[in-house]
Amino acid sequence: MSKEVAKTATSSAAPALAAEIAPPPPPRRDPAYVVAAKTRKKIPFWAMATLSLLPIWAFLYLLAVSPQEREASGPMAVGAEVYGACASCHGAAGQGGAGRVLHEGEVLKTFPHIEDMLNFVYTGSQPFVSANLAVYGDANRESGAHAPLSYNGNGMPAQGEKWGGGLTDYEVLGVVCHERYAIGGADPKSEQWAGEYATWCSPESEIFAALEAGTVDYDTVADTFKMLETPPRMVGTEARAAK
Ligand code: HEC
Repeated sequence: MSKEVAKTATSSAAPALAAEIAPPPPPRRDPAYVVAAKTRKKIPFWAMATLSLLPIWAFLYLLAVSPQEREASGPMAVGAEVYGACASCHGAAGQGGAGRVLHEGEVLKTFPHIEDMLNFVYTGSQPFVSANLAVYGDANRESGAHAPLSYNGNGMPAQGEKWGGGLTDYEVLGVVCHERYAIGGADPKSEQWAGEYATWCSPESEIFAALEAGTVDYDTVADTFKMLETPPRMVGTEARAAK
């Protein structure tokens, strides 16, 4: 132990002695970059406080730009939702499956008038069989009229309440609009379809609003809205030949 102490004492004494003899070294100048670092303006305290709010700002920003959940409204929006229940048989794009092909104008050939399609979707195939109707839709359909139960012998299930279906009247209209204008190929801006679209399927459709409010149904709608620019034809809730 005492040996250690002695050794330390001698080694520290030597440089001390050397310092006394040697001339004092010139004062060391800081290099330019150190001077710059020492003299530059520091970030003020309030700036740090502001920066620390960045994550909160980022969170609020993401909240603002993320899409809001919207309640479906209007025939086309309602129809897009309802169609999920039809897609299992008719295909997501209307390409067909257990149910008939709807896309590429096919459903428009069967039903040149929306009223006849509303009637058929409301009742389904069975009431047409019971009423001894040979066809549903256009009897002069291009490439052949459609007889009930003529597609692999399968029937179209009733959708309207009167026949035990699960859709309200305005939902039937919504899904029919979706099948004609989103899937079937009808162009709402074309001369051929603009009138029908305005009356039945546009966001401003008074008929859709009245069906939704329950002030009309498919037996009374044609009479109630006969003053429209493109007046509706009769729909009805019993199986009937296309008019
Ligand atoms: C269980 C399967 C099935 C479901 C679900 C189904 N369909 Fe059908 N659909 C059929 C079959 C089968 C036919 C052919 C009917 C026939 O031959 O009598 C058909 C025919 C149709 C037609 C006539 C097409 C044409 O050109 O002849 C329309 C329109 C239609 N369905 C709309 C709908 C809508 C709207 C829904 C959903 C609300 C729906 N379908 C759900 C099986 C189904």
